[in-house]
Amino acid sequence: MVTGSSRGIGRAIALALANRGVHIAVNYVRNKVKAEGTVKEIRKIGRKSIAVKADVSKSGDCKQMVRKVVDFFGGINILVNNAGVLPKHHKITEIPEDEWNYIINVNLKGVFNCTREVVKYMLKNGGGKIINISSIAGKNGGTVGVAYAASKAGVIGFTMALARELAPHRITVNAVAPGPVDTEMLTDEMKEKLKGLCPLRRIAKPIEVAETVIFLLENDYITGETINVNGGRYMD
Ligand SMILES: NC(=O)c1ccc[n+]([C@@H]2O[C@H](COP(=O)([O-])OP(=O)(O)OC[C@H]3O[C@@H](n4cnc5c(N)ncnc54)[C@H](O)[C@@H]3O)[C@@H](O)[C@H]2O)c1
Repeated sequence: MVTGSSRGIGRAIALALANRGVHIAVNYVRNKVKAEGTVKEIRKIGRKSIAVKADVSKSGDCKQMVRKVVDFFGGINILVNNAGVLPKHHKITEIPEDEWNYIINVNLKGVFNCTREVVKYMLKNGGGKIINISSIAGKNGGTVGVAYAASKAGVIGFTMALARELAPHRITVNAVAPGPVDTEMLTDEMKEKLKGLCPLRRIAKPIEVAETVIFLLENDYITGETINVNGGRYMD
């Protein structure tokens, strides 16, 4: 199951996984037509796929979504928590409380909501793999303000704590922290500016994040790790 996979990085992850033989549940919140487009592409590759609507910030939606996906596929072996949103306001004195809550609720609580439901089934199945899409902003603060950085840093802490908790159950938990990626999340102006800040002088293609997710999924001995994919923008 890949959250927010009707477009962008999530779509690239869903298609890359389908190309490796995985059946995919495509989660979306607003754009059913686009989600059905991803489903169509996956079926063309020869895998099973369904589109499932759920707002990841709502625990009830996530519970229902996971039940639907398990009913359809018989289980969930892989969860990719990809759904995320960018804030409109960046300066702390200008961020309305509602906007802070929205960013934290989608980017961080959404990861908790989906993971909690999926883990119940993974525990019954005796294993699984979870990948969370964080961001360079969760490691170096980024350029879009405190709410986004806090949500994405939270995802990294969540990843490590859960990796420790679930290791005895043969469930690995890892994260990917992309720098700027060429998706609809960024404006053309942001893309141009951020390109110049990357040592590799370009932003990432969604497939470059997707291939990192595949690398983590193919390895059974990496857990609690966050892999940077940022063209050298942040080195630690
Ligand atoms: N594009 C970048 O530069 C970049 C960099 C670092 C990290 N990321 C992260 O990568 C992930 C994917 O982003 P993207 O670049 O593909 O952006 P995108 O805007 O194209 O895709 C985000 C997807 O999440 C979905 N979504 C938003 N709120 C949701 C909700 N409440 N419930 C379910 N789905 C929801 C959107 O509908 C969309 O399909 C996000 O977590 C983002 O924070 C992106």
